[in-house]
Amino acid sequence: MHDSNHVAVIDFGSQYTQLIVRRVRELGYFAKLYSLEEFPAEIGKPGAVILSGGPKSTRDDDAPDIDFEALLGMEVPVLGVCYGMQLLNIKFGGSVEKSDKREYGQANLYPKQCTGLYEGVSESSQVWMSHSDTVENLPEGSEIIATNQHGTPVSLKWNERFYGIQFHPEVTHSHEGMRILHNFLLKATGLHPFRIDDLKREIIDGIKDKVGGKQVVCGVSGGVDSTVLAVLLHEAGVNMRAIFVDHGLMRKDEGEEVRNNFHRMGVPIETVDCSERFMSALHGVDDPEKKRVIIGGLFIDVFWDTVGDAEMLAQGTLYPDVIESASNDKSKASKIKTHHNRVDRILELQAEGKVLEPLAELFKDEVRALGASLGIAHDILHRHPFPGPGLAVRCPGAVTQDRLDIIRECDAIFIGKLKEHGWYDKVWQAYAGLIPVKTVGVKGDERSYEWAIALRAVISEDAMTADWVELPPILLRETSHRILNEVAGINRVLYDVSTKPPASIEWE
Ligand code: XMP
Repeated sequence: MHDSNHVAVIDFGSQYTQLIVRRVRELGYFAKLYSLEEFPAEIGKPGAVILSGGPKSTRDDDAPDIDFEALLGMEVPVLGVCYGMQLLNIKFGGSVEKSDKREYGQANLYPKQCTGLYEGVSESSQVWMSHSDTVENLPEGSEIIATNQHGTPVSLKWNERFYGIQFHPEVTHSHEGMRILHNFLLKATGLHPFRIDDLKREIIDGIKDKVGGKQVVCGVSGGVDSTVLAVLLHEAGVNMRAIFVDHGLMRKDEGEEVRNNFHRMGVPIETVDCSERFMSALHGVDDPEKKRVIIGGLFIDVFWDTVGDAEMLAQGTLYPDVIESASNDKSKASKIKTHHNRVDRILELQAEGKVLEPLAELFKDEVRALGASLGIAHDILHRHPFPGPGLAVRCPGAVTQDRLDIIRECDAIFIGKLKEHGWYDKVWQAYAGLIPVKTVGVKGDERSYEWAIALRAVISEDAMTADWVELPPILLRETSHRILNEVAGINRVLYDVSTKPPASIEWE
């Protein structure tokens, strides 16, 4: 995967860098993000290189720089995006100046040619810019291949291998960005299309190499990631014990469903019922971060108590988690929440080389495609994501049995209605969460003083951002009607209309 078949995206810190990786993969080529520290040693010989944008100015004292000799030595096509283009212009002997106009948002692109990078691109199209510097002196031999509406150069070609674009092709506001990226990738002769079957083989071989005869414990939750992981380990013939931890924080009838699904796939799993252990550890704990740390730590305890001789832990960690935690390490960004598979105990095991994460280079849609190529059924692969800490993060404040029971009932009604109305597959994730605040109502001619439940349904790409879904009023009406009539303890149903950011998908 890391030879000439892949596109190396070098991260100069833009908030869109991860999107470049996604877009290249959507175009059918494998791409991977590298930090500047990893360049060039970790990259090998890629088929093409893309230098991302970034928040700094090339005129800053601490402007990020790249080993240009090494880049030239790779002898592959290079595309500089925004900061990447300005840096390349300097490297080739040109200059960059502060622009008198800060360009932020929509702009028009006017290609000067209809071949190469701009083959098939309109004479004028919308692109998205975000910069305050602009290229000034152009080195000898370079060529302006597109301008904006003011005639300012926004795309350069320094030679047959090095190209630059000032705009961001990876965002959807750049209407023909994908075509331009595609045209660039066509220049990389060594690049082979990325096929899921090749990937499957590579991952299985990689697992065999890493694991050898070791005893592996694989936590399965029934979600897409851990299910695909368990099937891969099974296919690789690993000495594995797949453990389903029933922590008492699952949804209604979930344990049965998960066991049935694994039975259908022919992968043996063991259920460990430890709901009492989790509930007593969570007793009286109402701080969201403490809840997460307790639950994450208990998962490991249960794995090790169950499989005493385990030598490795397999986890279904995905690429967005890896990128997020890597960039957090570097940027010291504030920690929003501790995911259950990133608690300290796991980080320690990781440092000892005991954590196996074969999906860590993939996005969710790729994991689903991989699952399909492993023969996993559509309904299993398209279950909504469910957080490791389960209903505990949908129950603000202390977690108690009666609260969990209420959430389970409401959630089952809501999810049932989504399926009945054909909306389950159209939303990324949906759930019911408890608002443990009592309000006054009337039930059967009597005063009621009960909690509220909120319904949440979002669409998302990779859960990094999310938007709430405009569900049909009839679906909400029927859901609310059933909840109010059937679930004791609830006299109010709300619909959560918050985007992420600033909200998150889960409540805690
Ligand atoms: P947030 O709430 O951060 O959630 O917007 C983003 C996505 O991640 C899921 N999530 C988790 N998944 N362990 C997981 O495996 C966790 O600790 C965890 N916390 C949140 C959440 O359901 C959503 O899909």
